[in-house]
Amino acid sequence: MAWNPDIYNKFKSERFAPFYDCLNLVAIRPGIDVIDLGCGTGELTRKLADALPGSKVLGIDSSQEMLNDSKAFANEQVQFKLRGIEEQINLDEKWDLVFSNAAIQWVYNHEELMPEIISMIKPGGQLVIQLPNQNQNLSNLILDDLATQEPFCTALQNWTRNSPVLDIERYAQILFENGSKQMSVFEKIYPLVLKDGDALFDWVSGTALIPYTERLSGDTKEQFNTAYKERLKSRFPKSPAFYPFKRIIMEAKF
Ligand SMILES: C[S@@+](CC[C@H](N)C(=O)[O-])C[C@H]1O[C@@H](n2cnc3c(N)ncnc32)[C@H](O)[C@@H]1O
Repeated sequence: MAWNPDIYNKFKSERFAPFYDCLNLVAIRPGIDVIDLGCGTGELTRKLADALPGSKVLGIDSSQEMLNDSKAFANEQVQFKLRGIEEQINLDEKWDLVFSNAAIQWVYNHEELMPEIISMIKPGGQLVIQLPNQNQNLSNLILDDLATQEPFCTALQNWTRNSPVLDIERYAQILFENGSKQMSVFEKIYPLVLKDGDALFDWVSGTALIPYTERLSGDTKEQFNTAYKERLKSRFPKSPAFYPFKRIIMEAKF
């Protein structure tokens, strides 16, 4: 997926808010080994490392575009690698803290993925993950529905992005079944107050819209963007537009 850090960074404070909630859940212990799965530009990985004195932090991400910006955030404590989460799992390295902010919703099959991620945690270690609840967020639902309409479904060859995100109860169950000794799993609304429906389009264009537009080209891509903007505007006609963005946060100790 072709990520664009400039578009992604347009809504920094809104995207940083859940990270700070996750950071507050991290057990501060000196000198621990930490991995940040899907670290993006690395800006937040560095903030995580700065909060953990003496830790060694590795940020991995499968997007070279996002990682290009990470050089500015690397130091002797924080390193970055171009690596997929799936690849990292297969390396069988163990960590005191496995952290991931707004990334695992891009990896399929969470029934398999979650136990694999948990298996990366050392005994006594911690997991902290945040992911948007794509199955309940209206911007995703409108987008996925649009893709089923003509002419888009033909252009997309009937492809729609089936979100891998599970119900919050299921994540709790998986944590329990895989040895969690203590957990805190919850959903939280992050209020987005945007200028109007067009601004909501800009918000989505940095993330969920990408897999659709990269499968479309020319006029069809233009038409898709226009139709999506229109649907967002008719659902969010007021200015400012209030959008209650729902995210899942899970923290567990093993
Ligand atoms: C929404 S961004 C979040 C970035 C960062 N964690 C943050 O909070 O700013 C999602 C990131 O996940 C990365 N990503 C998506 N699928 C991935 C995968 N399979 N392996 C590694 N990184 C992945 C993307 O490249 C992107 O940088």
